[in-house]
Amino acid sequence: MIQIAPSMLSADFLHLEKDVEMVNACADLFHLDIMDGVFVPNISYGFPVVDAIASKAEKPLDAHLMIVRPETYVKRFAESGISMLSFHLNATEDPGAVLDLIHGCGMKAGIAVNPDIPVERLFPYIGRCEYMLVMSVFAGFGGQKFIEDTYGRIRTLKSEIAGRGADCLIEVDGGVSAKNASALAEAGADILVAGSAVFKSSDPADVISSLRKV
Ligand code: DX5
Ligand code: ZN
Repeated sequence: MIQIAPSMLSADFLHLEKDVEMVNACADLFHLDIMDGVFVPNISYGFPVVDAIASKAEKPLDAHLMIVRPETYVKRFAESGISMLSFHLNATEDPGAVLDLIHGCGMKAGIAVNPDIPVERLFPYIGRCEYMLVMSVFAGFGGQKFIEDTYGRIRTLKSEIAGRGADCLIEVDGGVSAKNASALAEAGADILVAGSAVFKSSDPADVISSLRKV
């Protein structure tokens, strides 16, 4: 069963409670994009916003760290009630140690890769984390165009996971919409992140239900 994770980066920050309630009612996870202006050329939001969302969230919080030295903040995100925490493979010197740290804080762990990093570089971590985040745009901004190569990347990763008999979900993030959701699910995606497709629509609940019909 595919899971839908609306990216709160595209939510209406003047009426955040309304968007949190919509996700509670219609989706599976809250996707929280944390950008530091160093790992990516953009700054998103920090703990005051994360904590506000957490206070009303009835679905698990999935935080996607686009920050350098993610290890520095792992414990702090656990304290905010994050259930799933991912970081970028090339944001740290020792990804394995970060996975251990995330697990030690009681969260599910994921590793993210931008479109220019071969998914084969994730293979050594299969069996050591609960999910992999395959970016279908370059991390940093919502509203970018989906990169078509993503299907092949997901297939490659999925077949390696299946070949090893491992339990590891694939999350896809960037430019996801009702147009590509079925093909992504077919390629092997388990979690679809969608920001603008959901929140820039006049009927977010309807978009989520069409994302589900894959
Ligand atoms: C991009 C973020 C995404 C983004 C998705 O760096 O990781 O989660 O918010 O937004 P859309 O769906 O608009 O591409
Ligand atoms: Zn994201």
